[in-house]
Amino acid sequence: MRSHYCTDLNEENVGQDVVLTGWANNHRDHGGIIFIDLRDKTGLIQLTCDPEDSAESHKVANGVRDEYVLIVKGKVRLRGEGLTNTKLKTGAIEIIVTELIVENKSAPVPFVIGDPNVGEDVRLKYRYLELRDPAMYETFRLRSKAAIAARNILDANGFLEVETPILTKSTPEGARDYLVPSRVHSGEFYALPQSPQLFKQLLMVGGFDRYFQIAKCFRDEDLRADRQPEFTQIDVEMSFCNQEDVIKVAEDLLEAMFKACNINVQAPFNRITYNDAMEFYGSDKPDLRYDLKMVDVIDIFERCDNEIFTNIAKKPHVNRIKALKVPGADLIFSKREMKGFEDFVRQFGAHGLGYFQMKEDGLKGPLIKFFSEEDIALLVERLGMQVGDVVFFGAGDKKTVWDYMGRLRIFLAEHEKMSILDRDAFEFVWVVDFPMFEVEDGRVKALHHPFTQPKDTDKDDVEEIESIAYDIVLNGTELGGGSIRIHKEDVQNEVFKLLGIEEEEAQEKFGFLLDALKFGAPPHGGFALGFDRMMMLISKKASIRDVIAFPKTQKASCVLTKAPSSVDNTQLRDLHIRLREQVK
Ligand code: AMO
Repeated sequence: MRSHYCTDLNEENVGQDVVLTGWANNHRDHGGIIFIDLRDKTGLIQLTCDPEDSAESHKVANGVRDEYVLIVKGKVRLRGEGLTNTKLKTGAIEIIVTELIVENKSAPVPFVIGDPNVGEDVRLKYRYLELRDPAMYETFRLRSKAAIAARNILDANGFLEVETPILTKSTPEGARDYLVPSRVHSGEFYALPQSPQLFKQLLMVGGFDRYFQIAKCFRDEDLRADRQPEFTQIDVEMSFCNQEDVIKVAEDLLEAMFKACNINVQAPFNRITYNDAMEFYGSDKPDLRYDLKMVDVIDIFERCDNEIFTNIAKKPHVNRIKALKVPGADLIFSKREMKGFEDFVRQFGAHGLGYFQMKEDGLKGPLIKFFSEEDIALLVERLGMQVGDVVFFGAGDKKTVWDYMGRLRIFLAEHEKMSILDRDAFEFVWVVDFPMFEVEDGRVKALHHPFTQPKDTDKDDVEEIESIAYDIVLNGTELGGGSIRIHKEDVQNEVFKLLGIEEEEAQEKFGFLLDALKFGAPPHGGFALGFDRMMMLISKKASIRDVIAFPKTQKASCVLTKAPSSVDNTQLRDLHIRLREQVK
């Protein structure tokens, strides 16, 4: 129907006859001339309906209300002297309307399109209205470009796109499953895939060599700003490869996807071991846009005159005393704010938060009296303290110290009074050499998943076993992860055993995988990128919901369709389900 999109037009089109389509963004009557801002997916353009140009169109324009669907014929004209709207891409021109058709009316809308101050529940209930905002369209345009770039580069590198089942069996990625009852098999359930992990491994056993999929995954877990119950992964697997090969494919893919969104990122990306990430940044997903780094000071505290610290320092294998220097903090934070930092870390298990300030006449602080002059000098030197700097200390068991000092690091870097965070930067880092297992409440758990290749299982302490697993982290967010997989049945059985999975249970849950490993499984590995998370960072959105067309709320419901919802008794009977109590 149209000759152009609204923002295709500029001064060069002046004098041309055009046909435009879209929605009435707003309308104003100025002394008999009606102005309508016409909106399509690209943006706005001003329509000018002057009875002298077309009495009929002017009459129609009189009845136009917000969000009416319009088809417009007219001529492009330069706006008069001083009437240019610099906020609008098409602000130098307008359309003199010669014919105006109201193709459809609209009921009064619950919010003005593009209004940022509308509650999320209302926006999501009328998501299709929110999507009319050209800024929204731009987010999804980038998402589409990135997906197409991913397909193109993976295709060019010999990867085959294969769809794996949605109605399947549980895949352990650490979350609860979404279950689907079977009608045919009474009392039995499918699980929706938490990832295509096992199928992609079977495709390698099937000799496909290089696979990818833009895959929907489902995880019933507590939701946060960067988590949805249903999300998308760019999922990749390859055979006869080592970690370097996989990392190269992932870097090429990331470069291509970011380029499609007009962002140049330069691989190879930095790497850090899991252990260093924890020791320096207190997190396995460090934000490296700023240079705050924890320094070990346990040796200095061991010599101090305070039993709390010397007792902690006696057990360096399980405890840590860490220092975090914050340049210039003494000059910008009040005493009350410093106290606030202590309250902040207490939420995460800290008993307190000691600090020293570097003044003109040396290091000061309540704890200073416990240290010898030599050790104070050593602290100043090791931390490179300058006048105005503050150093915070965390002491205690290593996991707690890593956690709260890591959180303090982020809290301070993001503090409005600090100016060390470049919000426009994209800082990638590979975290490598993950431990294979972690022990939580006495239970051994796989840190990635149980199909990850351990480097060496011959260790007394399971927590010391490393795996060939890697995560790609961007600006402190885990964007993706992967590993080289186990391709030998005996190793897989041994890992199941270490995880406390009995043979019978392993057969029941993963018998098909163990079977496949008997029949010449090639060495293989891969990774998956969280596509929604990536688009959230690229589009600089605060929530993953902003880059998903029809997202779920924090409570995992869709307010638009009202899912989940109850079903009628016949359907339940077909599925052999009787509810214990009728939930409203
Ligand atoms: P993993 O569980 O680390 O690995 O998932 C890969 C990436 O998917 C994203 N992600 C999520 N995004 C939004 N909402 C969620 N609930 C959610 N959960 C995960 C993250 C994460 O880094 N099969 C392995 C990959 C492999 O080993 O090849 C896997 O799924 O960005």
